[in-house]
Amino acid sequence: MPSAVGGSSRIVAGVEFGDERIAQSLRSGLERVETMLMQACSSDDLTLDQAAKHLAQAGGKRFRPLLVLLASQLGRPGSVDVDKAAVVVELTHLATLYHDDVMDEAEIRRGAMSANARWDNSIAILAGDYLFAAASILVAELGPEAVRIQAETFQRLVTGQIQETVAAPEGVDPIDRYLQVLAGKTGSLIATSGRFGAMFAGASPDIVTAMTEFGEAIGMAFQLSDDLIDITSEEEDLGKATGTDLREGVHTLPMLFTLADPSSDERLRALLQSGPLTEDAPHREALELLRNSHGMSQAREVLGQYVERARAQLALLPEGVPRESLEALVDFMQTRSN
Ligand code: IPE
Ligand code: IPE
Ligand code: MG
Ligand code: MG
Repeated sequence: MPSAVGGSSRIVAGVEFGDERIAQSLRSGLERVETMLMQACSSDDLTLDQAAKHLAQAGGKRFRPLLVLLASQLGRPGSVDVDKAAVVVELTHLATLYHDDVMDEAEIRRGAMSANARWDNSIAILAGDYLFAAASILVAELGPEAVRIQAETFQRLVTGQIQETVAAPEGVDPIDRYLQVLAGKTGSLIATSGRFGAMFAGASPDIVTAMTEFGEAIGMAFQLSDDLIDITSEEEDLGKATGTDLREGVHTLPMLFTLADPSSDERLRALLQSGPLTEDAPHREALELLRNSHGMSQAREVLGQYVERARAQLALLPEGVPRESLEALVDFMQTRSN
């Protein structure tokens, strides 16, 4: 894949844009964001400094800052506040990754050891808290409305994370519940990324609303494709373990469709119902069956619906290069799990 930094490539953070100028502007925006991000992760305490910088240094797509910068093209891009907002959403995301890896007992993140594996759970939790505090310091500089939006976003995100750990309440369709979890744990922060970008570039309220809705839909598509990638990809390409959801006994959308359909493969249903697949042989078997299942195509259809929802918001925007660039992002989301 062509490099995301330097050169005249139209590819930024893995997404191919039609317009070279916008690609260049996004690239320099991401470079500014990177400098501010590393500053925000710093601490006078050596252990905390290392732990808090660990995942930011390990890599990551910077998808949320990219969306902030993209959305800002709909107003006056290039302001310091837009950059700060981009750092806030990445810091918030980073904080949740530290905590998520503790919850999920994950050992690999961004191609490196997770903080809980490299140090321990206490350090990983505290490093996540430190990063959230760093995000709070920065968002305070953006004013009370931004503080409220970020706090509400974090509440939604945490609600999604906790709902994922408990069974759906009686009478709630597991598929509806699952989509609600995703909206909370992933849609919320990506919606806020779109919203902040438009808001701090001074775009009109209609555009801010469209970008919020767009972010929510593209965030859902992002997480749904992430769940598909967890099933379809090989570990060395992903930078984190694959088939983790099966190993943890988390039923993602293809699995929920399989379980809801009495005519689906009996062996696959039995494997899914047997709980976390921690042994290699049944894990591999379930992964193979799932890859070719009808549930997988049904989940792809749902992904397609969110992609269309995102496109519908873009249709409300004025025509031009910023809208085309957002369309490029949608194209990327539609195909990343193929
Ligand atoms: C991982 O997010 C967690 C999800 C919400 C799917 P990303 O896929 O954006 O992870 P990084 O930032 O690139 O590591
Ligand atoms: C990622 O969720 C964490 C958040 C969205 C807060 P997952 O547990 O589903 O994703 P990965 O596989 O660890 O990135
Ligand atoms: Mg996880
Ligand atoms: Mg998780």
